[in-house]
Amino acid sequence: MALHKDVNVTIYATDNDTVVLQKAAAGVYDRKALENVDEKKIRKHFICHEDGTFEVRPHIKDLVKFRQHDLMSGAPISRYLDVVTCRNVTIYFTEKQKNDLTHLFYSALAVDGYYVIGKTEYLAREVEHLFTPFNVMQKILRKAA
Ligand SMILES: C[S@@+](CC[C@H](N)C(=O)[O-])C[C@H]1O[C@@H](n2cnc3c(N)ncnc32)[C@H](O)[C@@H]1O
Repeated sequence: MALHKDVNVTIYATDNDTVVLQKAAAGVYDRKALENVDEKKIRKHFICHEDGTFEVRPHIKDLVKFRQHDLMSGAPISRYLDVVTCRNVTIYFTEKQKNDLTHLFYSALAVDGYYVIGKTEYLAREVEHLFTPFNVMQKILRKAA
């Protein structure tokens, strides 16, 4: 990831489970979890600990606001978002809950914002008009006008 110092970036990382959030906020990974990250990026963005784990450096951690948030609350964590990534979360949601969530993300995204869904996920017919495919392989959708 190229970090442009003249661009303000805020990443909201949300879950409704505080234990999950604490683990995510710690930002500690084992070697296997980073097997698809090149060495140069690992050196630049991670601190290697003596126990063999890798911790995300503060210049990345400080970009992320970890927040407890229930996706079923009906309110987005923020608005005018450029990208929403929500993968492998809605498997236990009903079709109506999934469609309500798609409407929620649509309203939370800025014009031309992107919505990234799981590799095996899809939008139901009732809500597919809200987004247009941007990258079919990566399941990246763009907010429709
Ligand atoms: C299978 S994990 C997927 C995590 C991650 N997106 C990934 O692909 O690795 C599902 C996560 O969704 C969270 N979750 C489930 N229901 C939720 C809800 N209503 N609001 C917010 N998070 C929820 C769970 O706590 C869990 O951490």
